[in-house]
Amino acid sequence: MSVNEWLSCFICGSGGLGVYGRVATDAIKGLMQILFIGGTGNISAECAAAAHKRGHQVLVLTRGRHELPSEYRAIQADRRDRAAMRSALSGIKPDVVANFLGYELEDVRLDVEIFQGSLRQYVFISSTTVYARPARRLPYREDSDLGNVWWEYAQKKLACEQWLGERYSADGFPVTIVRPSHTYSKLWVPNPVSSSSYSFAARLERSQPIFVPDDGKNPWTLTAAADFAVGLVGLIGNDQAVGEAFHITSDEVLTWNQIYAEIASALGVITPSIVPVPTEFICQVAPQMTGTLKGDKAQPGIFDNAKIKRFVPEFRCVKSFREGVRQSVAWLREHPSQQNLNPQVDRLIDDVLAAWRVAFTVHPIHR
Ligand SMILES: NC(=O)c1ccc[n+]([C@@H]2O[C@H](COP(=O)([O-])OP(=O)(O)OC[C@H]3O[C@@H](n4cnc5c(N)ncnc54)[C@H](OP(=O)(O)O)[C@@H]3O)[C@@H](O)[C@H]2O)c1
Repeated sequence: MSVNEWLSCFICGSGGLGVYGRVATDAIKGLMQILFIGGTGNISAECAAAAHKRGHQVLVLTRGRHELPSEYRAIQADRRDRAAMRSALSGIKPDVVANFLGYELEDVRLDVEIFQGSLRQYVFISSTTVYARPARRLPYREDSDLGNVWWEYAQKKLACEQWLGERYSADGFPVTIVRPSHTYSKLWVPNPVSSSSYSFAARLERSQPIFVPDDGKNPWTLTAAADFAVGLVGLIGNDQAVGEAFHITSDEVLTWNQIYAEIASALGVITPSIVPVPTEFICQVAPQMTGTLKGDKAQPGIFDNAKIKRFVPEFRCVKSFREGVRQSVAWLREHPSQQNLNPQVDRLIDDVLAAWRVAFTVHPIHR
């Protein structure tokens, strides 16, 4: 009988080591208490579920607007309210923190203040948008050039990464950087305009036109959150991963034209009306698209995942986009209240297409 089995039997039996025994066996099994800052979102919900499935104890800090599985411990606070964060987290000593809500230096500074000295690992969810665009060399590797001149979101993520890197070097703060690329769950039909809203898909359902940046031939990677979660949870508690950065993406590369065709097919739309519009023109009409297009989705998005596969051998993306987008469409049609329709997305697409029609005579491609 192994030490693990012996301890399990002892705890289940009348001897009752109680909570200390459970902590001891969890430690032997490599099980940890993991705090997810944001844990019910598009990516984080799958990661929390995967961690729980592994047997880890899952704590989730949110504002409490989304339902949380009863097996998790809920902690309620608004991330932006520093006093509320301190109060909600006082007395909580997780082994690992996975922060899905770090967008500003202030966010990660607060975490370091709260958790410095008591953590085994702090996982910062950054973004592959931190890589320089256009890429000097593809596919992107973790040591590719950094610095995205087009997108403030990416610049802030990089500032967080670099500050945390300094804390690691100076004070041993145990940070692991994880960079998702475009990652979707059943909550999203991902697209280049607004993935968190169903409006893009709804336009296709209503036979309304949409635009595709440039000629639609830009190669792009979409990753299913359930696949991403295997990589992320595999890094948790891996001491070798501390002080390292990883991206975690699928190896399936599609053009936007192929992605649009898969979305239309999943929606059952036979002749989608798709208008190619130059990225430059889109950004002139809708400057708010500059970061997400010039700094990301209108640039080749191809990643070398050798590093995450080396650290987490079980990591493999098994869900094709064809399968994933069908699951999203099916789920969102069953749960219309989750579709998050956004009139601003319609307005943006209408404005770009109206301006393009005025500038040029266009002929929609019927696929
Ligand atoms: N998806 C992608 O393509 C992609 C690509 C690169 C990087 N990322 C990164 O991935 C992370 C996003 O993770 P996600 O997809 O799980 O996020 P998400 O879908 O935006 O979900 C946000 C989560 O945080 C909670 N939350 C939101 N605002 C909060 C606040 N002020 N205080 C406390 N809790 C709050 C939400 O629950 P409540 O509403 O109940 O509070 C929810 O659990 C971000 O760091 C993003 O930069 C994503």
